[in-house]
Amino acid sequence: MFALLLCFTACANNSKETDGSSDIASKETELNKSEAKALVVYFSCTGNTKAVAQKISKLTGADLYEIISTDPYTDEDLNYNNDNCRANKEMNDPDARPAIGSNAIDISNYDIVFIGYPIWWGTMPRIINTFLDTYDLSDKTVMPFCTSGGSGISKSVSDMKAQELDADIRDGLRANGSSDSGINEWLSDNGLMQKEN
Ligand SMILES: Cc1cc2nc3c(=O)[nH]c(=O)nc-3n(C[C@H](O)[C@H](O)[C@H](O)COP(=O)(O)O)c2cc1C
Repeated sequence: MFALLLCFTACANNSKETDGSSDIASKETELNKSEAKALVVYFSCTGNTKAVAQKISKLTGADLYEIISTDPYTDEDLNYNNDNCRANKEMNDPDARPAIGSNAIDISNYDIVFIGYPIWWGTMPRIINTFLDTYDLSDKTVMPFCTSGGSGISKSVSDMKAQELDADIRDGLRANGSSDSGINEWLSDNGLMQKEN
């Protein structure tokens, strides 16, 4: 189940500024052989984003990696009606970087990294910034996705781009749940077609 074969159609050119470096050249060769390897990274406190992450993994065959906080969020931590709840305090502090407790993962062999999260106060939770600070996503294709109570994903994608990851960050997807038909469409729009299930 860890093997991944994704078809990259012609519209999915993720090569950035090809300068002839051997890394990029070998990556293009790999994509041309339709053997791009993908990883679904997600953070989820109440299960909504996890369900979408699992769906994307099932559709694409991508590996799954859950970002778990060293200090798991309690219901009280997530009570955004309380100005002093942990989540609100973190979101009020742009420099907050909650520690990741899940085992480190070697992402160097992945070409495509899906990153999923709930929207918190209009953007991604700070622990996603921790992930972005920790891992080198340069020259990878990044596919952001989220769940939310109604807010869109675009601000979080702008915030991600502002981190200058040197990655090819695609338009994000806000999914209502794992049955959202938009998931297939989004994968297709980005040239990521399921090869086998
Ligand atoms: C601290 C906090 C802030 C939130 N802020 C927003 C928001 O700005 N807009 C929105 O639509 N939903 C917001 N939500 C709702 C979550 O995005 C939504 O419930 C999400 O699906 C939870 O995902 P999860 O089950 O994967 O944790 C917020 C939730 C929390 C806990």
